[in-house]
Amino acid sequence: MAFEEYGARALDHFLNPRNAGELPGASAVGTYTNPVCGDLVKLFIKVEEGRIVAARSKTFGCAAAIACSSALTELLVGRTIDEALHLRNEEVVRHLGGLPAHKEKCSLLAEQATRDALRALHL
Ligand code: FES
Repeated sequence: MAFEEYGARALDHFLNPRNAGELPGASAVGTYTNPVCGDLVKLFIKVEEGRIVAARSKTFGCAAAIACSSALTELLVGRTIDEALHLRNEEVVRHLGGLPAHKEKCSLLAEQATRDALRALHL
């Protein structure tokens, strides 16, 4: 990995992932595996009164995947279910201040794991 390809914010999320790990008492768990590279995101969310109040993730993947999962946990907290459903990978990339162009596709893990977690809520 070429560190210089990454901006300061993305690099910080990779080196110091926010909200990493499992979430005891999670309302739902979503997973997504990139079929091309095999990288995996497991997303835990806790929902109270229709709003996400906590999110954590465990990511086995590239630097971009780890940074995106970290950003995702920040972006999800405080959102309603509907707002979370509309979260797109481009927003995750923006939250990181951008990613190297050839790594932007890695942000799809965050979007897909979110959808899987929301499906698992059994609303
Ligand atoms: S290379 Fe697999 S998600 Fe980045």
